[in-house]
Amino acid sequence: ISLGIDLGTSELKTVLMDSAGSVRGQASVRIATSRPQAGWSEQSPQDWWDACIQALAQLRAGWPHEYAQIACIGLSGQMHGAVLLDLDEAVIRPAILWNDARAEAEAAALARDYPAYADVTGSLPMAGLTAPKLLWLQAHEPAAFAAIACVLSPKDYLRLRLTGNKVTEMSDAAGTLWLDEAKRSWFAPMLAACGMTLAQMPALAEGDAATGTVLAAIADQLGLPAGVVVAGGGGDNPVSAVGIGAVNGGDSFISLGTSAAIVSVTEAPLGNPAGGVHSFCHALPGRWYAMGAILSGASCLRWATGVLGQPDEAALLALVEAGLPFDVPVAPSAPLFLPYLSGERTPHNDPQVRGAFLQLGHDSTPAQLGYAVLEGVAFALRDAMAAVTSTGAVVPHCMLVGGGARSQYWAQLLANVLGCEMRTLHNSELSASLGAAKLGFAAIGQRQLLSTGLPIKNTFLPDAAHSAALSLRYGRYRSLFPAVQALHQ
Ligand code: XUL
Repeated sequence: ISLGIDLGTSELKTVLMDSAGSVRGQASVRIATSRPQAGWSEQSPQDWWDACIQALAQLRAGWPHEYAQIACIGLSGQMHGAVLLDLDEAVIRPAILWNDARAEAEAAALARDYPAYADVTGSLPMAGLTAPKLLWLQAHEPAAFAAIACVLSPKDYLRLRLTGNKVTEMSDAAGTLWLDEAKRSWFAPMLAACGMTLAQMPALAEGDAATGTVLAAIADQLGLPAGVVVAGGGGDNPVSAVGIGAVNGGDSFISLGTSAAIVSVTEAPLGNPAGGVHSFCHALPGRWYAMGAILSGASCLRWATGVLGQPDEAALLALVEAGLPFDVPVAPSAPLFLPYLSGERTPHNDPQVRGAFLQLGHDSTPAQLGYAVLEGVAFALRDAMAAVTSTGAVVPHCMLVGGGARSQYWAQLLANVLGCEMRTLHNSELSASLGAAKLGFAAIGQRQLLSTGLPIKNTFLPDAAHSAALSLRYGRYRSLFPAVQALHQ
């Protein structure tokens, strides 16, 4: 049995997987985020470890037979968070997360002062990525900065507690901006630009390699068998990719969670940093991926549900489906929505820009506004997809994962807007923890699951009858960005 652990932003999810790839048990525990100032987003690494202990206790209670057979663990996690450790491996301050915007000026300074580095590190410096956060700390919390002996990515803190080893792997290391993507080794000049040194970086492994075994005392505490191997694992997007079998060039998917991303696997590091694309190492050796990341995905639907006074997302979706059925093309003059509720990464790289509703009238209905929100997120993904394909990465068809994949209506709308076939999958809400469990098996030499995916639930083909109306609306959407950007400049 392999234990997959996905340290998400809102919950830690675990699965027990057998060597045939079947899920034998699962447990999850919620995690709180604190927002001590506007634009900040922090979590306590101790809370992650506590959540991990709780989830494992649930697995042990629910599936004692399988739990006793755990041979390996794979880790997946939210990317770009900065976990700061001192010389005693104690946490110096709460971790600063991927959706924290405080380091905007530092990101801009890195981009201005070291323009050539983006081609090496695979992305423009952006406020959410790890490197600018360290520059921010240097300026604003010098005592904390001076105490840093090591910086870990979030899931690597769980590895430290499990194995005692300070190790990361290529896919999370890529998201720090301190990695040379092509060479898969630390890039000392970017570290130096942040006032950091190689000595503060954890060791590097591949995602499918063993990085240690669970410490005897921890195994006792958690009731795990002796000698459980912990695999490198990876960041949540690349590990989800492994979960759904996106492991070869051209395998593509959209992850529609709190944030959203469109990802295409590549067999070489194909970059276009100027287009706001992240070109990062995959969780498997010899693989990379091009990703367009948008900061507000299904969270836009959640937000709209609240402000429109609907009891839950399903209720708003039902209104939309009844009010705007696919047999009638949407009017060019219907409301439009710009989904920049927390700024945007790809392609705009602007943490300050905010969203908008436009084309409102006395006759605008909650159903129309709800539709505009779904469509606005799809338009943002069309921008992100254009950025991804500008690198030479291809998107022949797209698997759809994340909470947003539950809506067939949204899936069809995405197919229509992107002009690309969408496929929903069974069990896709577990893609990251499933991918983690597969990497766990790989680390003990059982690689057979790496090439398997998840069974297809539904296929959504683009409907040409809608493309003309949608292209017109997309053109209007595109033309609005300079206006909302100008509002904060
Ligand atoms: C990826 C990213 C998010 C986090 C959230 O670049 O920032 O997907 O990994 O979990």
